[in-house]
Amino acid sequence: MRIDPSETTMIPAILPTYDRAPLTFVSGEGSWLREADGSRWLDLGAGIATNCLGHAHPALVEALTEQAGRVWHLSNLYEIAPQQALAERLVDATFADTAFFTNSGTESAELAIKMVRKHWSDLGEDRPTILTFEGAFHGRSTGAIAAAGPGKMTRGFGPLMPGFEILPWGDHEALDAALDESVAAVMVEPIQGEGGIRAMPDRCLKGLREACDRTGALLVLDEVQCGMGRTGRLFAHEWAGIAPDVMMVAKGIGGGFPLGAVLAAEGAAAGMTVGTHGSTYGGNPLGCAVGLKVMEIVGDPAFLAEVSRKAGRFRQGLEGLVAAHPEVFAGVRGQGLMLGLECVVPNAEIRRAAEGERLLTVPAAGDVLRLLPALNIEEGDLEEALRRLDAAASTLEAA
Ligand SMILES: Cc1ncc(COP(=O)(O)O)c(C=O)c1O
Repeated sequence: MRIDPSETTMIPAILPTYDRAPLTFVSGEGSWLREADGSRWLDLGAGIATNCLGHAHPALVEALTEQAGRVWHLSNLYEIAPQQALAERLVDATFADTAFFTNSGTESAELAIKMVRKHWSDLGEDRPTILTFEGAFHGRSTGAIAAAGPGKMTRGFGPLMPGFEILPWGDHEALDAALDESVAAVMVEPIQGEGGIRAMPDRCLKGLREACDRTGALLVLDEVQCGMGRTGRLFAHEWAGIAPDVMMVAKGIGGGFPLGAVLAAEGAAAGMTVGTHGSTYGGNPLGCAVGLKVMEIVGDPAFLAEVSRKAGRFRQGLEGLVAAHPEVFAGVRGQGLMLGLECVVPNAEIRRAAEGERLLTVPAAGDVLRLLPALNIEEGDLEEALRRLDAAASTLEAA
């Protein structure tokens, strides 16, 4: 069908790819957002695990505005001091020997896939397949949707990029059968976010690392959502005592400013030489100045211990909520402040009821309601969130 330019335009000014709630927030402070009429909302979504230090954190505002007063953008044709400092900080704090900065998780996924392919190409080995898992979410680029497997994200966007084999979640036999010497890498979220807060148990992550070592496959972890302190460690895989070869980072690392990174061990990254990859904005001074401040705050062991402590208490409260409302909630899952409430009724109903209490939550697959508060949320705000969830559940029960 040809498009007739004389036809009246029906499409909204913003391409309608999101089902947006009719809410407009004009400002934020800590874990609270404010509408123009002054009404305050308690934010347990934090921009889907992105505003890791809440809204308008004074130290992040200062880091951004201070950098904005110096220089906004420098091409990667030159040295960028905040980028160098952030790379060194990340290398010091993690398994990685090197970092490439991106603007989003999707871009991190793209580079991770390219890095894996280049690694095997340089070694002269034909390893066409990257293993991924059902329920995964790695972003919306053509590579990232192919990696997550066929479904609503890929429909209509074929032909899909080849080179991925999608395995069932938690099926060890399927993994053993698939992980042979044709496999270039295994790519996995230690805790699936969009997939419904599904954690890979530590022993499975360990087993996966060992299996990758046996065949030489690279282990690529997607810590875009579960990383940057969300589980009470800087990165979620640390709980399992393993290290990946490549890791995708985004969301929390910029505290709300668009910033991502691929961190890699030298052996995996060595093929990425001059001209093999690039990005105009990746590693720009503004993002990296903010990222440095986020790392300074979130990377502090005392801050991470506090995340775990608060998360433990919050989880207890959530378990109490489940016990009090068995017709609404079935259980709690997740780790640290990456939590999911398993819902008996459709999660959209609970989300709406929570919105009736001016509480923001995030839906996930499998009728799970995600609770991803800012990592520095105050204890009183977590208690308030429990009260509001309790009220929302009571409303649903009375309906
Ligand atoms: C685990 C994971 N990977 C990748 C992405 C894509 O990140 P972005 O939306 O920044 O492109 C997301 C976003 O939700 C994610 O949760």
